[in-house]
Amino acid sequence: MDRVNAFARRVPTWVVYVLGLVPLGFLVWGAVFGGLGPDPVKAIERGLGERGLQFLLASLAITPLRRVGLNLIRFRRALGLLAFLYVALHLTAWVWLDMGLRWSEMAADLTKRPFVIVGMIGFLALLPLAATSWNGAIRRMGAAAWNRLHKLAYLAILAGVVHLALLSKVWTTSVLVYVALGLGLLAVRLLPRPMQRRPASA
Ligand code: HEM
Repeated sequence: MDRVNAFARRVPTWVVYVLGLVPLGFLVWGAVFGGLGPDPVKAIERGLGERGLQFLLASLAITPLRRVGLNLIRFRRALGLLAFLYVALHLTAWVWLDMGLRWSEMAADLTKRPFVIVGMIGFLALLPLAATSWNGAIRRMGAAAWNRLHKLAYLAILAGVVHLALLSKVWTTSVLVYVALGLGLLAVRLLPRPMQRRPASA
């Protein structure tokens, strides 16, 4: 593990941003030159949503990974911001490409369709996290308040997996894997850790 940590320390964070933007590049390429299948709008919308969920899961996995010795904490902000970018674009694709800016239909969906409501809760939970992701925010807010606010990441991931479960008519293996990973990571982060064993007295 030490070698992996040493390697990770040498990787500049911009590399994560660049790699994280590659799937977006493929989607833009596919939209411009074709290759997104018979329903490109759905392919874009789903592709963006799935990447958003993947980056959310990756950012939430950083702390449990550190507990087992793999320190990727330097990349957490990049992963969180990439998650926000993809979810924001996913929402934009829904508003613009899928709903065609028909605001009354969107308002109806936002009150009637549970998966849309839950998705929106997830997006709203991510907004303050993205807004306070810059270095000065911790200084201004104080570390305790910043940490409390960033617990919203748990709500975002819960909303993300519930959104996926609700909209999936068939629970494919990938849906099950996402739901299990999301709930598993939440359990690891939120359930009390088993009491540490005290060293035997001499
Ligand atoms: C944390 C926020 C969100 C996450 C992580 C997320 C993630 C996802 C995922 C993984 C999918 C399924 C992709 C697939 O089928 O492979 C999806 C589909 C979808 N999401 Fe979201 N989403 C979020 C928020 C939203 C919001 C705010 C909206 C709209 C208000 C929205 C609307 C949709 C729609 C319309 C679909 C496609 C449903 C279909 O297949 O017809 N999502 N989303």
